[in-house]
Amino acid sequence: MPKTDHPPHQIEVVFSAAQIAEQVDRLARKIAGAGMDNLLVVAVLKGSFVFASDLIRALHAAGVSPEVDFITLSSYRKSTKSSGQVEILRDVDSQVQGRNILLVDDILESGRTLAFAKDLMVARGAKRVATCVLLDKPGQRAAEVEADFCAFKCPDVFVIGYGMDIGHRYRELPFVGNLVRG
Ligand code: IMP
Ligand code: MG
Repeated sequence: MPKTDHPPHQIEVVFSAAQIAEQVDRLARKIAGAGMDNLLVVAVLKGSFVFASDLIRALHAAGVSPEVDFITLSSYRKSTKSSGQVEILRDVDSQVQGRNILLVDDILESGRTLAFAKDLMVARGAKRVATCVLLDKPGQRAAEVEADFCAFKCPDVFVIGYGMDIGHRYRELPFVGNLVRG
């Protein structure tokens, strides 16, 4: 094992790799049936990068050939509490005007991130903006937004893995876990 500066956390599996794979396939089939032609998938970075990469391959298997772009938004900074303000750190390159957009994010929590991204796409003239999240934490909602497609309802705990991090660690885990205080 390589040496690191951090002691390892104890991690509890919340959603396993197999459960995630099953849900990703289910979502892709639902999205394929939603009639969104000329689809532009916009992955909200950074946390959604693993979910989005599995989802677009499941979409391919479901017969969808989307364009894929990325937007980097930040509301969390380095803390585990949301600052309440959403900033664009890197914008999409694609034309949004007249397009069907699927916003893909890791977690819908306060809803500020997804509401911001949705408003931005609508303001740019998107035809339809649908939202797809891996996890919904409905307990902390502050903005009026719901996911059109959601893999799991998530308990109100801080989760990591499958792209999600704490201080940029644990993104590589193939499952969604939470840190157990030891
Ligand atoms: P919202 O704007 O409060 O809905 O925040 C959603 C964003 O906060 C997600 O896209 C994540 O990037 C981040 N986030 C919220 N909860 C967690 C968590 O438990 N672990 C890691 N990131 C989280
Ligand atoms: Mg995010």
